[in-house]
Amino acid sequence: MDDFALLDRSAHLSETADEVIRRCRLLAECTEEPGHITRTFLSPPMREVHRLVRHWMEEAGMRVSVDAAGNIRGVKGDGPRLMIGSHLDTVPHAGAFDGILGVVLGIALVGYALACPPIEVVGFSEEEGVRFGVPFIGSRALIADPVMDEPVLEAIRAFGLDPAQLPQAAIGDDVKAYLEFHIEQGPVLEEKKRPLGIVSAIVGQSRYDVTFHGMANHAGATPMNHRSDALAAAAHWIGAVEEIGSEEPDLVATVGRLEVEPGATNVIPGLVRASLDVRSASNFTRLEAVRNMLSAAAEMKNWRNVTATWEERLNQLAIDMDPSMAQALRAAAKAAGYKSHSMVSGAGHDAMILATKVPSAILFVRSPGGISHHPDETVLPEDVEAALAVGLRFLDTWSLS
Ligand code: GLV
Ligand code: MN
Ligand code: MN
Repeated sequence: MDDFALLDRSAHLSETADEVIRRCRLLAECTEEPGHITRTFLSPPMREVHRLVRHWMEEAGMRVSVDAAGNIRGVKGDGPRLMIGSHLDTVPHAGAFDGILGVVLGIALVGYALACPPIEVVGFSEEEGVRFGVPFIGSRALIADPVMDEPVLEAIRAFGLDPAQLPQAAIGDDVKAYLEFHIEQGPVLEEKKRPLGIVSAIVGQSRYDVTFHGMANHAGATPMNHRSDALAAAAHWIGAVEEIGSEEPDLVATVGRLEVEPGATNVIPGLVRASLDVRSASNFTRLEAVRNMLSAAAEMKNWRNVTATWEERLNQLAIDMDPSMAQALRAAAKAAGYKSHSMVSGAGHDAMILATKVPSAILFVRSPGGISHHPDETVLPEDVEAALAVGLRFLDTWSLS
């Protein structure tokens, strides 16, 4: 891999934005599936990601380490510091910018800023929850709430890290605030014709694994009224999830994964494993919707004799971002000559975990077409330049008190 131009004030900000985008696209080449961008928690391609990120962090003058949760962390300066971060894992068949942009942009800011407060940039190992069904494995270690499921610990060991060191990953009093740059992943900023968004709050999320237990049998010889078809029951339930999810304006619900057993054309499905993801800015609305969705699953017992069981994987409360950091970002955007828009994030972010410990803020970068979690996810170079300019202003004015 060739060397890259040092990102500093000798480069024009637009060149830095181009380099940030180039680096995001370079990291996208580190994938578990050729032809797609898929990189789950501590999977083999994360080693090459760490090699490149380490190189860029060192080039920006940072001291680099990898903690026991697999987060790569670069520190510049000593003493109380601002943390800038986002995640380096992806969903299956992802785009190149979700999470990655925030890490690469944070490093670029450290390299570019003439003088800045002490800064730690973190590339979180996991935020999406794809490999083990539990999201925020990286950021939870920083708030001293590490995920201790045995498969997660095993993956940590397999990557050459020591789970016994997880307590040392937690941040101390010297981390004063957390800032995340992230693509919006929705259509609001494009509709508003604003390059940047300032997040006021992040919606709460529930995630469940729901299993439908029917009975496999012969697809030709079993009359329709003798079946216990787990997939037909799951299909009926998904309709109910869509209906309940549409009952409130700020509620969303998704069944994103189905596994069917035994999975043959001529066998009635005996078992279906489904995922459920429910989000709302109102914890009450979200939890009530979840209750109704799970009772709709339980009702499938009366429909072709299919029972449902479930396991909660996540119950993450909605959380406000820090008003004074948001205000400082707004002022920085105005001073840099950019229009921003205050908004709630429907996507989850590492900031919602960090915000339980330190003042936290997110600056959104417009998502062309509102597309994310899709290979067509992209950013406009001028919007990345805007984020860099606002980030630099923020660093000039933000005081770590
Ligand atoms: C992360 O992308 C999430 O919101 O699920
Ligand atoms: Mn994502
Ligand atoms: Mn993300």
